[in-house]
Amino acid sequence: MKVTVVGAGNVGATCADVLAYREIANEVVLVDIKEGVAEGKALDIWQKSPINLYDTRTVGSTGDYSKTADSDVVVITSGLPRKPGMTRDDLIQTNAGIVKSVTESVIQHSPNAILIIVSNPLDVMTYQAHMSSKLPKTKVIGMAGILDTARYRAFLAEALNVSPKDIQAVLMGGHGDTMVPLPRYTTVGGIPVTELIGKEELDAIIERTKFGGGELVKLMGTSAWYAPGAAAAQMVEAIVKDQRRVFPVCIKLDGEYGIDDCYLGVPVVLGKNGVEKVLELELNAEEKEMLEVSRGHVKEVMAVLDNLN
Ligand code: NAI
Ligand code: 2OP
Repeated sequence: MKVTVVGAGNVGATCADVLAYREIANEVVLVDIKEGVAEGKALDIWQKSPINLYDTRTVGSTGDYSKTADSDVVVITSGLPRKPGMTRDDLIQTNAGIVKSVTESVIQHSPNAILIIVSNPLDVMTYQAHMSSKLPKTKVIGMAGILDTARYRAFLAEALNVSPKDIQAVLMGGHGDTMVPLPRYTTVGGIPVTELIGKEELDAIIERTKFGGGELVKLMGTSAWYAPGAAAAQMVEAIVKDQRRVFPVCIKLDGEYGIDDCYLGVPVVLGKNGVEKVLELELNAEEKEMLEVSRGHVKEVMAVLDNLN
């Protein structure tokens, strides 16, 4: 399997590294616009192979998309990250242009690839890539839900003093402050989380999760990369190994959850064809209301993109 990662910055290089050392693909091509950066990072990852014992080939390219030809999966991470004081939505103008041109170049050489979008604002960049690629919606998938859920699971594991491996959860909606965590669908080794933690503490963890990206931007002056890179690699793995994993991902909704023409995070089955199935949960009134707020916010940012285009 051949996987391309566009953008050899923090998230892209981390994703390529995980894809290589976990031998998720046979070949990983890293592309960037900055002269030499992708080549250098691909070489560095390759030189780590005798230490970490893997044989995935890593190749770098400065803007030469012929090297990406016939990729099975392409991860798009190119674009500006947030700086302190910025929202993800502030990135739209610059990143929409980047995602559009990158998607067109990728599709020219890999017309059958499945695209995983990481660039922010995530839901709307997934919309941009879907428009530019003209692929079926099941093959243009945004990464955010795995990351947001991982933050929620990590905070819960810390609060309960248990392994994060035993925390299962699902989160829906847009990748932003309006995301919709679902405590009703959160379990700890099969036990409903509400039996193990008080409402006040759980609410505080949910609030921290919603602003989890911003917390890291404040600490580091730029956005996170270890968990985002690993999350994108986990999506690639589900696809290239046809694992049929159940993950929350961003996809265009056309009637699912009663929502039309909006790109939002929902739980899906991820396999060799991309999104194999959208799982529709029976949400209660409060959860539906939160999802509606999130939909409204994403639609506003989609309208900004429509005006730019
Ligand atoms: P970064 O600045 O470290 O890397 C971005 C890379 O994209 C740079 O190396 C830059 O040269 C490259 N680039 C810019 N224009 C390009 C083009 N036309 N073609 C190829 N490469 C190009 O940023 P980082 O931290 O890797 O973040 C990347 C994006 O991912 C940002 O938009 C960030 O907000 C987003 N992000 C999304 C997350 C999510 O959950 N969906 C999580 C973390 C980051
Ligand atoms: C994050 O949530 C910035 O979207 C990025 O870390």
